[in-house]
Amino acid sequence: MTEPKRSTGILDDTEAREKIVGLLTKAYWMEIETVMSYIANSTNVDGVRAQEIKESLAGDVQEELGHAQQFAARIKELYGVVPGSLDFSAEQSYLQPPDEQTDIVHIIKGVIEAESGAVEYYNQIIEFCEGKDPVTQDMVIAILADEEGHRRLFEGFLREYKAEGLA
Ligand SMILES: [Fe+2]
Ligand SMILES: [Fe+2]
Repeated sequence: MTEPKRSTGILDDTEAREKIVGLLTKAYWMEIETVMSYIANSTNVDGVRAQEIKESLAGDVQEELGHAQQFAARIKELYGVVPGSLDFSAEQSYLQPPDEQTDIVHIIKGVIEAESGAVEYYNQIIEFCEGKDPVTQDMVIAILADEEGHRRLFEGFLREYKAEGLA
């Protein structure tokens, strides 16, 4: 009689596990860069109408930081190593401070672009994890829900500016 083969899922599947660690590492950097961009933009923005955006972005900083920590923890659980800062390379050209700090539309559009990028990328991770790693998949689904909420909120802000002919 042969022993039934024990499977520990993703922990046994080195190839898929390394691929997922790679995907999580990119997601980690995306969150870290979003934290930087949201701190800068929530602080820089000026004007009476900017308060809502300021508060909303400042709140998102904490959420995005929480996402970065979740990605980091999962990297470690999958036997990966969370990278050091020297591995970081910036990509969010669209979230650089505008020329005028009252240019709220620039910030709103930048946030929508960042959130859309996250939504797109996290859907890819969820798809890759299907049938391989339900724990990572579950975690990323919950994070995706946050990003969809962020995107929707800023789409609402943009709609208001468009309605007034300001965007
Ligand atoms: Fe996030
Ligand atoms: Fe977000």
